[in-house]
Amino acid sequence: MYNSKIQCTFLADRKPGKQMMLIHRGKFTLKRENSIHAAAFCILHAAAEQLTQHLHLLHPEELSYYETLKFDKRRESYLLGRISAKKAIGALSLFEDLGKIAIESGIFQFPVVKYAITRNLQVSITHCEGLGIALSYPEVHPLGIDLERTDKANTEAIKEQLTPAELALTRTSQLPEDVACTMVWTMKEALSKVLRTGLTVDLKLLEIQSLAKEGDVYTSHFRHLIQYRAISCYAGAYVCSIVVPGKTTPELEEFWRFFRETVS
Ligand SMILES: CC(C)(COP(=O)(O)OP(=O)(O)OC[C@H]1O[C@@H](n2cnc3c(N)ncnc32)[C@H](O)[C@@H]1OP(=O)(O)O)[C@@H](O)C(=O)NCCC(=O)NCCS
Repeated sequence: MYNSKIQCTFLADRKPGKQMMLIHRGKFTLKRENSIHAAAFCILHAAAEQLTQHLHLLHPEELSYYETLKFDKRRESYLLGRISAKKAIGALSLFEDLGKIAIESGIFQFPVVKYAITRNLQVSITHCEGLGIALSYPEVHPLGIDLERTDKANTEAIKEQLTPAELALTRTSQLPEDVACTMVWTMKEALSKVLRTGLTVDLKLLEIQSLAKEGDVYTSHFRHLIQYRAISCYAGAYVCSIVVPGKTTPELEEFWRFFRETVS
């Protein structure tokens, strides 16, 4: 059995009036009938000026790309994604020199981890308003993650993209409408990341066919992509969904605890 002890790091910028940079990272197991796999996460909450203190974690190719970015919002989201992904890889592989890892973008913008050690780890990345979350996982066992802030102003736009059956599920979920719609949306985005297509596919292909409360989280099965299921949690104003293969039992309790702590 591998050591699943959670590592948790808090980095405080102690100058008065400054927001604290928060990093939670740890491992979790992916249990299947005949195998067990190790994955890891990093939840990063940081302001732009704090992120730039971690440029040493970028590979020279990533740094060159970062320097071409013109818009502050994209510079920030790029760093949130890359730094959280490096930390998630570090939590899983004990690969010390994270600056030697390059996370490239594939032809549909999916992240591709490249580094010298021949261990096939990949990452799934999401970022939203100062928050970056990444999962690292063995390539044999795909995972996808998505995070969104709930916003009543976006609810109608999301509803237009959902199927009648999905809308019916949101109505019977007993969740506030904006939360339920955002939850379904993040489940579909996380699935699209597993598929590496993003939302370039017909969204009906990503349709969910159930939405059930299980303890503190919600789970869904997909109507067409029956190999996968989604697990979702909302806290504060945020909804986060993780998509896993349907027959995998992921041990995500610590992840959800840190997620709630970070966004509440
Ligand atoms: C991929 C997509 C689902 C991301 O969702 P989002 O809510 O916008 O953004 P998130 O912060 O959750 O995720 C962004 C991360 O997803 C990852 N990602 C992007 N495309 C991906 C894909 N096809 N497959 C898997 N992961 C992908 C990237 O790591 C990206 O972060 P990075 O660019 O910093 O590396 C969504 O942007 C999409 O479907 N895009 C396809 C349509 C498109 O390309 N539009 C271009 C608009 S100009």
